[in-house]
Amino acid sequence: MKKTRIHLVAGARPNFMKLAPLYHALAEEEWVQLKIIHTGQHYDANMDSTFFEDLRLPEPDVHMGIGSGSHAEQTGKIMMGYEQLCQKEIPHLTIVMGDVNSTLATSIACAKMGVPVGHLEAGLRSFDRSMPEEVNRVLTDAISDILWTPSADADANLMKEGVSPEKIHRVGNIMIDSIELLRPKIEEDNFREKLGLTKGEYALVTLHRPSNVDDPKKLENLCLILKEMSREVPIVFPVHPRTGKNLKMLPLFEGLHKKESLTLIEPVGYIQFMNLLFNARMVVTDSGGLQEETTYLHIPCLTLRGNTERPITITMGTNRLSTLGSIRDDFRSAMNGHWTKGKIPEYWDGKTAGRVVSSLEKYFGVTVHQ
Ligand code: UD1
Ligand code: UDP
Repeated sequence: MKKTRIHLVAGARPNFMKLAPLYHALAEEEWVQLKIIHTGQHYDANMDSTFFEDLRLPEPDVHMGIGSGSHAEQTGKIMMGYEQLCQKEIPHLTIVMGDVNSTLATSIACAKMGVPVGHLEAGLRSFDRSMPEEVNRVLTDAISDILWTPSADADANLMKEGVSPEKIHRVGNIMIDSIELLRPKIEEDNFREKLGLTKGEYALVTLHRPSNVDDPKKLENLCLILKEMSREVPIVFPVHPRTGKNLKMLPLFEGLHKKESLTLIEPVGYIQFMNLLFNARMVVTDSGGLQEETTYLHIPCLTLRGNTERPITITMGTNRLSTLGSIRDDFRSAMNGHWTKGKIPEYWDGKTAGRVVSSLEKYFGVTVHQ
Protein backbone atom coordinates (compact mmCIF):
# COMPACT_ATOMS: atom_id res chain seq x y z
CA MET A 1 0.00 0.00 0.00
CA LYS A 2 1.34 3.40 -1.00
CA LYS A 3 1.47 5.51 2.14
CA THR A 4 0.66 9.18 2.58
CA ARG A 5 3.69 11.07 3.86
CA ILE A 6 2.76 13.49 6.67
CA HIS A 7 5.19 15.72 8.54
CA LEU A 8 4.36 16.99 12.03
CA VAL A 9 6.52 20.06 12.60
CA ALA A 10 7.18 21.47 16.06
CA GLY A 11 9.85 23.61 17.62
CA ALA A 12 8.86 25.30 20.86
CA ARG A 13 7.41 24.21 24.22
CA PRO A 14 3.74 24.99 23.48
CA ASN A 15 3.94 22.90 20.30
CA PHE A 16 4.78 19.64 22.00
CA MET A 17 1.53 19.13 23.94
CA LYS A 18 -0.35 19.90 20.69
CA LEU A 19 1.74 17.50 18.63
CA ALA A 20 1.60 14.52 20.99
CA PRO A 21 -2.08 13.52 20.79
CA LEU A 22 -2.06 13.84 17.01
CA TYR A 23 1.16 11.84 16.75
CA HIS A 24 -0.32 9.03 18.85
CA ALA A 25 -3.54 9.01 16.80
CA LEU A 26 -1.83 9.13 13.39
CA ALA A 27 0.76 6.52 14.36
CA GLU A 28 -2.12 4.01 14.46
CA GLU A 29 -3.16 4.74 10.87
CA GLU A 30 -1.80 2.24 8.34
CA TRP A 31 -2.20 4.62 5.40
CA VAL A 32 0.11 7.22 6.97
CA GLN A 33 3.89 7.45 6.93
CA LEU A 34 4.55 9.86 9.76
CA LYS A 35 7.61 11.96 10.57
CA ILE A 36 8.25 14.34 13.45
CA ILE A 37 10.38 17.30 12.42
CA HIS A 38 11.85 19.41 15.23
CA THR A 39 13.05 22.87 14.24
CA GLY A 40 15.10 23.32 17.43
CA GLN A 41 13.58 26.71 18.32
CA HIS A 42 13.59 25.53 21.96
CA TYR A 43 16.49 23.32 22.99
CA ASP A 44 17.13 23.33 26.77
CA ALA A 45 16.21 19.92 28.16
CA ASN A 46 13.51 21.43 30.38
CA MET A 47 11.94 23.28 27.41
CA ASP A 48 12.28 20.37 24.99
CA SER A 49 13.37 16.75 25.57
CA THR A 50 11.53 16.45 28.91
CA PHE A 51 8.30 16.99 26.97
CA PHE A 52 9.14 14.22 24.52
CA GLU A 53 9.62 11.84 27.45
CA ASP A 54 6.53 12.97 29.37
CA LEU A 55 4.31 12.89 26.30
CA ARG A 56 5.71 9.48 25.25
CA LEU A 57 6.99 10.81 21.95
CA PRO A 58 9.83 9.14 20.05
CA GLU A 59 12.97 11.08 19.14
CA PRO A 60 12.20 13.44 16.22
CA ASP A 61 12.96 11.88 12.82
CA VAL A 62 14.76 15.08 11.89
CA HIS A 63 16.20 17.72 14.20
CA MET A 64 17.00 20.96 12.41
CA GLY A 65 18.92 22.49 15.36
CA ILE A 66 18.01 26.09 14.48
CA GLY A 67 18.23 27.55 18.03
CA SER A 68 17.63 31.13 19.16
CA GLY A 69 17.98 34.32 17.14
CA SER A 70 16.15 37.43 16.00
CA HIS A 71 12.74 36.87 14.42
CA ALA A 72 14.02 37.20 10.85
CA GLU A 73 17.06 35.04 11.56
CA GLN A 74 15.07 32.26 13.20
CA THR A 75 12.26 32.37 10.63
CA GLY A 76 14.70 32.47 7.70
CA LYS A 77 16.83 29.60 8.99
CA ILE A 78 13.80 27.40 9.55
CA MET A 79 12.49 28.16 6.04
CA MET A 80 15.83 27.25 4.50
CA GLY A 81 16.26 24.14 6.64
CA TYR A 82 12.78 22.85 5.93
CA GLU A 83 13.04 23.51 2.19
CA GLN A 84 16.29 21.53 2.04
CA LEU A 85 14.71 18.70 3.95
CA CYS A 86 11.75 18.53 1.56
CA GLN A 87 14.04 18.47 -1.44
CA LYS A 88 15.12 14.98 -0.30
CA GLU A 89 11.55 13.72 0.10
CA ILE A 90 8.48 15.88 -0.39
CA PRO A 91 5.59 15.24 2.04
CA HIS A 92 1.96 15.01 0.89
CA LEU A 93 0.98 17.25 3.83
CA THR A 94 2.77 19.22 6.52
CA ILE A 95 1.02 19.87 9.81
CA VAL A 96 2.01 22.93 11.87
CA MET A 97 0.56 23.99 15.20
CA GLY A 98 0.07 27.10 17.32
CA ASP A 99 1.59 30.48 16.63
CA VAL A 100 5.35 30.38 17.14
CA ASN A 101 8.02 31.33 14.60
CA SER A 102 8.48 27.65 13.67
CA THR A 103 4.78 27.54 12.68
CA LEU A 104 4.97 30.45 10.26
CA ALA A 105 8.41 29.63 8.82
CA THR A 106 7.41 26.08 7.96
CA SER A 107 4.12 27.20 6.40
CA ILE A 108 5.83 29.74 4.14
CA ALA A 109 8.38 27.16 2.97
CA CYS A 110 5.53 24.75 2.20
CA ALA A 111 3.42 27.31 0.33
CA LYS A 112 6.37 28.09 -1.97
CA MET A 113 7.04 24.39 -2.62
CA GLY A 114 3.39 23.55 -3.22
CA VAL A 115 3.17 21.32 -0.15
CA PRO A 116 -0.31 21.53 1.45
CA VAL A 117 -0.36 22.81 5.04
CA GLY A 118 -2.68 21.85 7.86
CA HIS A 119 -2.78 24.36 10.72
CA LEU A 120 -3.80 23.04 14.11
CA GLU A 121 -5.17 25.79 16.37
CA ALA A 122 -6.14 28.03 13.46
CA GLY A 123 -8.28 31.16 13.57
CA LEU A 124 -7.30 32.60 16.96
CA ARG A 125 -6.94 36.39 16.87
CA SER A 126 -5.95 39.00 19.45
CA PHE A 127 -6.15 41.73 16.76
CA ASP A 128 -2.90 43.06 18.22
CA ARG A 129 -0.26 43.00 15.53
CA SER A 130 2.40 44.23 17.96
CA MET A 131 2.55 40.60 19.17
CA PRO A 132 4.77 38.43 16.96
CA GLU A 133 2.37 35.54 17.52
CA GLU A 134 -0.53 37.48 15.96
CA VAL A 135 1.53 38.06 12.81
CA ASN A 136 2.39 34.35 12.80
CA ARG A 137 -1.30 33.38 13.17
CA VAL A 138 -2.66 35.66 10.44
CA LEU A 139 0.00 34.71 7.90
CA THR A 140 -0.05 30.98 8.63
CA ASP A 141 -3.83 30.86 8.28
CA ALA A 142 -3.70 32.81 5.01
CA ILE A 143 -1.55 30.12 3.37
CA SER A 144 -2.92 26.99 5.02
CA ASP A 145 -5.04 24.46 3.15
CA ILE A 146 -6.74 22.83 6.13
CA LEU A 147 -7.60 24.97 9.15
CA TRP A 148 -8.43 23.08 12.35
CA THR A 149 -10.02 25.46 14.84
CA PRO A 150 -10.59 25.12 18.61
CA SER A 151 -13.75 27.22 18.96
CA ALA A 152 -16.54 29.02 17.07
CA ASP A 153 -14.90 32.46 17.42
CA ALA A 154 -11.94 31.12 15.45
CA ASP A 155 -14.25 29.93 12.64
CA ALA A 156 -15.84 33.40 12.52
CA ASN A 157 -12.44 35.14 12.37
CA LEU A 158 -11.37 33.00 9.42
CA MET A 159 -14.65 33.56 7.55
CA LYS A 160 -14.26 37.33 8.00
CA GLU A 161 -10.79 37.05 6.46
CA GLY A 162 -12.29 35.34 3.42
CA VAL A 163 -11.14 31.78 4.10
CA SER A 164 -13.47 29.44 2.27
CA PRO A 165 -15.71 27.51 4.68
CA GLU A 166 -14.76 24.08 3.31
CA LYS A 167 -11.20 24.60 4.54
CA ILE A 168 -12.36 25.24 8.13
CA HIS A 169 -12.88 22.31 10.48
CA ARG A 170 -13.82 22.84 14.10
CA VAL A 171 -12.10 20.02 15.93
CA GLY A 172 -11.76 21.46 19.46
CA ASN A 173 -8.76 21.99 21.66
CA ILE A 174 -5.97 19.46 21.17
CA MET A 175 -4.25 20.45 24.44
CA ILE A 176 -7.14 18.94 26.38
CA ASP A 177 -6.30 15.60 24.72
CA SER A 178 -2.83 15.75 26.28
CA ILE A 179 -4.27 16.42 29.72
CA GLU A 180 -6.62 13.46 29.40
CA LEU A 181 -3.95 11.17 27.91
CA LEU A 182 -1.71 11.81 30.90
CA ARG A 183 -4.27 12.41 33.65
CA PRO A 184 -3.36 9.28 35.69
CA LYS A 185 0.36 10.17 35.58
CA ILE A 186 -0.36 13.80 36.48
CA GLU A 187 -2.57 12.80 39.41
CA GLU A 188 -0.12 10.28 40.84
CA ASP A 189 2.90 12.61 40.49
CA ASN A 190 4.30 14.02 43.75
CA PHE A 191 5.94 17.22 42.55
CA ARG A 192 3.60 19.50 44.51
CA GLU A 193 4.30 17.57 47.71
CA LYS A 194 8.04 17.69 47.04
CA LEU A 195 7.83 21.49 46.91
CA GLY A 196 5.96 21.46 50.24
CA LEU A 197 2.80 23.00 48.75
CA THR A 198 -0.67 22.24 50.11
CA LYS A 199 -3.46 21.23 47.71
CA GLY A 200 -5.53 24.27 46.70
CA GLU A 201 -3.46 26.69 48.77
CA TYR A 202 -0.91 28.21 46.43
CA ALA A 203 -0.75 30.30 43.28
CA LEU A 204 1.07 29.16 40.15
CA VAL A 205 2.78 31.90 38.12
CA THR A 206 4.33 31.89 34.64
CA LEU A 207 5.47 34.97 32.72
CA HIS A 208 7.40 35.12 29.47
CA ARG A 209 5.83 37.68 27.10
CA PRO A 210 8.38 40.30 25.94
CA SER A 211 5.81 43.01 26.86
CA ASN A 212 5.98 41.89 30.52
CA VAL A 213 9.51 40.64 31.00
CA ASP A 214 11.79 42.52 28.58
CA ASP A 215 11.22 45.94 30.17
CA PRO A 216 13.22 45.93 33.47
CA LYS A 217 10.93 48.46 35.16
CA LYS A 218 7.80 46.47 34.36
CA LEU A 219 9.42 43.20 35.41
CA GLU A 220 10.54 44.77 38.68
CA ASN A 221 7.02 46.07 39.37
CA LEU A 222 5.58 42.63 38.65
CA CYS A 223 8.06 41.02 41.03
CA LEU A 224 7.16 43.48 43.78
CA ILE A 225 3.48 42.66 43.33
CA LEU A 226 4.22 38.91 43.43
CA LYS A 227 6.22 39.43 46.61
CA GLU A 228 3.27 41.28 48.13
CA MET A 229 0.86 38.50 47.07
CA SER A 230 3.14 35.83 48.51
CA ARG A 231 2.51 37.21 52.00
CA GLU A 232 -1.04 35.91 51.63
CA VAL A 233 -0.59 32.76 49.58
CA PRO A 234 2.55 30.77 48.70
CA ILE A 235 3.59 31.26 45.10
CA VAL A 236 5.45 28.85 42.83
CA PHE A 237 6.94 30.36 39.69
CA PRO A 238 8.64 28.14 37.07
CA VAL A 239 10.75 30.70 35.25
CA HIS A 240 10.97 30.67 31.43
CA PRO A 241 14.57 31.15 30.16
CA ARG A 242 13.76 34.54 28.60
CA THR A 243 12.40 35.73 31.98
CA GLY A 244 15.24 34.08 33.91
CA LYS A 245 17.89 35.97 31.95
CA ASN A 246 16.11 39.29 32.53
CA LEU A 247 15.38 38.59 36.20
CA LYS A 248 19.02 37.91 36.97
CA MET A 249 19.87 41.45 35.84
CA LEU A 250 17.46 43.07 38.35
CA PRO A 251 18.97 44.38 41.62
CA LEU A 252 16.10 42.79 43.56
CA PHE A 253 16.78 39.29 42.15
CA GLU A 254 18.83 37.91 45.07
CA GLY A 255 16.29 39.06 47.66
CA LEU A 256 13.45 37.66 45.57
CA HIS A 257 15.01 34.24 45.45
CA LYS A 258 15.43 34.05 49.21
CA LYS A 259 11.79 34.80 49.95
CA GLU A 260 10.44 31.52 51.29
CA SER A 261 6.83 31.85 50.18
CA LEU A 262 7.83 32.87 46.65
CA THR A 263 9.54 29.87 45.11
CA LEU A 264 11.30 30.44 41.81
CA ILE A 265 12.14 27.21 40.00
CA GLU A 266 13.47 26.23 36.58
CA PRO A 267 10.84 25.46 33.91
CA VAL A 268 9.37 22.04 34.57
CA GLY A 269 8.22 19.19 32.35
CA TYR A 270 4.60 18.64 31.39
CA ILE A 271 3.63 16.10 34.05
CA GLN A 272 5.19 18.02 36.93
CA PHE A 273 3.76 21.30 35.70
CA MET A 274 0.29 19.83 35.33
CA ASN A 275 0.59 18.33 38.80
CA LEU A 276 1.16 21.88 40.09
CA LEU A 277 -1.67 23.25 37.96
CA PHE A 278 -4.27 20.62 38.93
CA ASN A 279 -3.90 21.59 42.59
CA ALA A 280 -3.42 25.36 42.31
CA ARG A 281 -5.78 27.86 43.92
CA MET A 282 -5.20 30.32 41.10
CA VAL A 283 -2.90 31.06 38.18
CA VAL A 284 -1.20 34.33 37.24
CA THR A 285 0.18 34.15 33.73
CA ASP A 286 0.68 35.62 30.29
CA SER A 287 0.77 32.21 28.59
CA GLY A 288 -1.66 31.39 25.80
CA GLY A 289 -2.02 27.71 26.64
CA LEU A 290 -2.54 28.24 30.35
CA GLN A 291 -5.60 30.41 29.72
CA GLU A 292 -7.21 27.35 28.14
CA GLU A 293 -5.95 24.76 30.59
CA THR A 294 -7.28 26.78 33.56
CA THR A 295 -10.68 27.11 31.88
CA TYR A 296 -10.80 23.34 31.38
CA LEU A 297 -9.83 22.75 35.01
CA HIS A 298 -12.10 25.52 36.45
CA ILE A 299 -9.15 27.34 38.03
CA PRO A 300 -9.20 31.18 38.32
CA CYS A 301 -6.72 32.64 35.84
CA LEU A 302 -5.40 36.21 35.93
CA THR A 303 -3.87 36.94 32.53
CA LEU A 304 -1.41 39.81 32.57
CA ARG A 305 -2.09 41.04 29.07
CA GLY A 306 -4.08 43.79 27.39
CA ASN A 307 -5.87 41.35 25.10
CA THR A 308 -6.23 37.69 24.31
CA GLU A 309 -6.54 35.60 21.16
CA ARG A 310 -8.56 33.16 23.28
CA PRO A 311 -11.64 35.26 24.23
CA ILE A 312 -13.76 32.17 24.88
CA THR A 313 -11.71 31.61 28.06
CA ILE A 314 -13.15 34.92 29.30
CA THR A 315 -16.71 34.68 28.00
CA MET A 316 -17.17 31.03 28.99
CA GLY A 317 -14.23 30.12 31.17
CA THR A 318 -12.31 31.25 34.22
CA ASN A 319 -9.96 33.77 32.62
CA ARG A 320 -9.76 37.50 33.35
CA LEU A 321 -7.41 40.05 31.77
CA SER A 322 -5.46 41.91 34.40
CA THR A 323 -3.10 44.89 34.46
CA LEU A 324 -0.56 46.27 36.92
CA GLY A 325 -3.38 48.57 38.01
CA SER A 326 -6.05 45.90 38.55
CA ILE A 327 -4.05 42.85 39.59
CA ARG A 328 -4.35 43.47 43.34
CA ASP A 329 -8.17 43.64 43.13
CA ASP A 330 -8.32 40.61 40.84
CA PHE A 331 -6.05 38.69 43.20
CA ARG A 332 -8.35 39.56 46.12
CA SER A 333 -11.42 38.37 44.19
CA ALA A 334 -9.70 35.07 43.41
CA MET A 335 -8.57 34.66 47.04
CA ASN A 336 -12.10 35.34 48.30
CA GLY A 337 -13.65 32.92 45.83
CA HIS A 338 -15.45 35.69 43.95
CA TRP A 339 -14.80 34.09 40.61
CA THR A 340 -16.84 32.27 38.01
CA LYS A 341 -16.50 28.48 37.87
CA GLY A 342 -16.87 28.75 34.11
CA LYS A 343 -18.05 26.27 31.50
CA ILE A 344 -16.01 24.08 29.16
CA PRO A 345 -16.30 25.00 25.47
CA GLU A 346 -17.69 22.50 22.98
CA TYR A 347 -15.21 19.87 21.73
CA TRP A 348 -12.71 20.53 24.52
CA ASP A 349 -13.19 16.91 25.42
CA GLY A 350 -9.98 14.97 24.81
CA LYS A 351 -11.18 13.73 21.39
CA THR A 352 -9.74 16.41 19.14
CA ALA A 353 -6.98 14.24 17.63
CA GLY A 354 -9.61 11.74 16.46
CA ARG A 355 -11.51 14.55 14.71
CA VAL A 356 -8.34 15.69 12.96
CA VAL A 357 -7.69 12.14 11.75
CA SER A 358 -11.28 11.92 10.40
CA SER A 359 -10.86 15.18 8.52
CA LEU A 360 -7.57 13.91 7.06
CA GLU A 361 -9.24 10.70 5.90
CA LYS A 362 -11.79 12.82 4.02
CA TYR A 363 -9.09 15.13 2.63
CA PHE A 364 -7.07 12.22 1.24
CA GLY A 365 -10.14 10.15 0.26
CA VAL A 366 -9.14 7.27 2.53
CA THR A 367 -11.76 4.53 2.80
CA VAL A 368 -12.37 3.69 6.42
CA HIS A 369 -13.12 0.02 7.16
CA GLN A 370 -15.21 -0.27 10.34
C1 UD1 B 1 8.44 31.50 22.05
C2 UD1 B 1 7.29 31.93 21.17
C3 UD1 B 1 6.10 32.32 22.04
C4 UD1 B 1 5.75 31.20 23.00
C5 UD1 B 1 6.97 30.80 23.79
C6 UD1 B 1 6.62 29.60 24.61
C7 UD1 B 1 7.81 33.03 19.04
C8 UD1 B 1 7.85 34.33 18.35
N1 UD1 B 1 7.63 33.09 20.36
O1 UD1 B 1 8.82 32.62 22.83
O2 UD1 B 1 4.97 32.56 21.23
O3 UD1 B 1 4.74 31.65 23.87
O4 UD1 B 1 8.03 30.45 22.88
O5 UD1 B 1 7.53 29.27 25.58
O6 UD1 B 1 7.92 32.02 18.43
N2 UD1 B 1 15.92 30.33 25.38
C9 UD1 B 1 16.75 29.48 26.09
N3 UD1 B 1 16.55 28.14 25.93
C10 UD1 B 1 15.60 27.60 25.13
C11 UD1 B 1 14.78 28.49 24.41
C12 UD1 B 1 14.95 29.86 24.55
O7 UD1 B 1 17.62 29.91 26.82
O8 UD1 B 1 15.48 26.37 25.05
C13 UD1 B 1 16.10 31.80 25.56
C14 UD1 B 1 17.05 32.42 24.53
O9 UD1 B 1 17.77 33.43 25.17
C15 UD1 B 1 16.11 33.01 23.52
C16 UD1 B 1 14.92 33.43 24.39
O10 UD1 B 1 14.84 32.44 25.40
O11 UD1 B 1 16.67 34.06 22.82
C17 UD1 B 1 13.62 33.52 23.65
O12 UD1 B 1 13.35 32.31 22.92
P1 UD1 B 1 12.39 32.33 21.62
O13 UD1 B 1 12.11 30.95 21.17
O14 UD1 B 1 12.93 33.28 20.63
O15 UD1 B 1 11.10 33.01 22.17
P2 UD1 B 1 10.25 32.70 23.45
O16 UD1 B 1 10.25 33.90 24.33
O17 UD1 B 1 10.66 31.40 24.04
N1 UDP C 1 4.24 24.48 30.76
C1 UDP C 1 5.04 23.45 31.27
N2 UDP C 1 6.07 23.77 32.11
C2 UDP C 1 6.33 25.05 32.49
C3 UDP C 1 5.52 26.08 31.97
C4 UDP C 1 4.48 25.76 31.09
O1 UDP C 1 4.80 22.28 30.97
O2 UDP C 1 7.28 25.26 33.26
C5 UDP C 1 3.17 24.15 29.80
C6 UDP C 1 1.79 24.76 30.05
O3 UDP C 1 0.98 24.01 30.84
C7 UDP C 1 1.20 24.82 28.67
C8 UDP C 1 2.37 25.09 27.79
O4 UDP C 1 3.53 24.75 28.57
O5 UDP C 1 0.64 23.60 28.29
C9 UDP C 1 2.33 26.53 27.37
O6 UDP C 1 3.51 26.95 26.95
P1 UDP C 1 3.98 28.44 27.07
O7 UDP C 1 3.31 29.15 28.17
O8 UDP C 1 5.45 28.36 27.07
O9 UDP C 1 3.54 29.01 25.65
P2 UDP C 1 2.25 29.75 25.11
O10 UDP C 1 1.08 28.87 25.31
O11 UDP C 1 2.15 31.05 25.84
O12 UDP C 1 2.58 29.99 23.69
